[in-house]
Amino acid sequence: MEMIEVEDYQEMSRVASQFIIEKVQLLDNPVLGLATGSTPEGVYKQLIEKRKQGNVSFANTSTFNLDEYVGLDGDDPNSYRYYMNEKLFSHIDIPGENTRVPNGMKKDLEQECGQYEQLIKEKQGIDLQMLGIGLNGHIGFNEPGTSLQTRTHVVELAQSTRKANARFFDSLEEVPEQAITMGIETIMASREIILLVSGERKAEALDRLLNGPVTEDFPASILQTHPNVKIIADRAARSLMKK
Ligand code: PGA
Repeated sequence: MEMIEVEDYQEMSRVASQFIIEKVQLLDNPVLGLATGSTPEGVYKQLIEKRKQGNVSFANTSTFNLDEYVGLDGDDPNSYRYYMNEKLFSHIDIPGENTRVPNGMKKDLEQECGQYEQLIKEKQGIDLQMLGIGLNGHIGFNEPGTSLQTRTHVVELAQSTRKANARFFDSLEEVPEQAITMGIETIMASREIILLVSGERKAEALDRLLNGPVTEDFPASILQTHPNVKIIADRAARSLMKK
């Protein structure tokens, strides 16, 4: 894993967006893996800005999001489909059909998971996957204890994750209990990964990622075994790092 030290959230967002833009400009049909949550919002703002300036086109880009809540449809402001449309897709020139987010409304969720894997395969896999990290080390919604050999699957959300995400909902009760997520193996199959870490509250997770063992108890630790991971971490997130 390569560490890219940045000063703050702004710089993290700038650097990450630059990696994405370079990939989009380099490849004929780039395939991006995208994330939601607070961490990537600044990246999406940068991408929209660059698109507006005419510096980049996403017309040939395809995207796969990491995860989606079960039971929320794309019109629900708390769904990740809605988040992606609002924060990125509707502001850039990517064709709607090129944007994929698991559908948590499908009756047969297992089938949806299989189809998602199939779609990724048809696009020859993900060129660049952007990740955040949960306080408990989850990547996507792969919570501690998830087998490291999973493909896209349905998960029960950890209570701590529901609490962490309750800030986006009116109450904790409204946070869904299940989600669909790319599995660890799906994420690890990406050719390149950028992991964004910002703020002091993520410092412990970053320390564990860098210095802890590879274990299912801390799913992000598997990234230690991926050949092409860049961690873009700001000063506050690095505050527990040994010099
Ligand atoms: P955050 O979430 O970006 O909202 O901190 C990251 C995650 O839980 O993966």
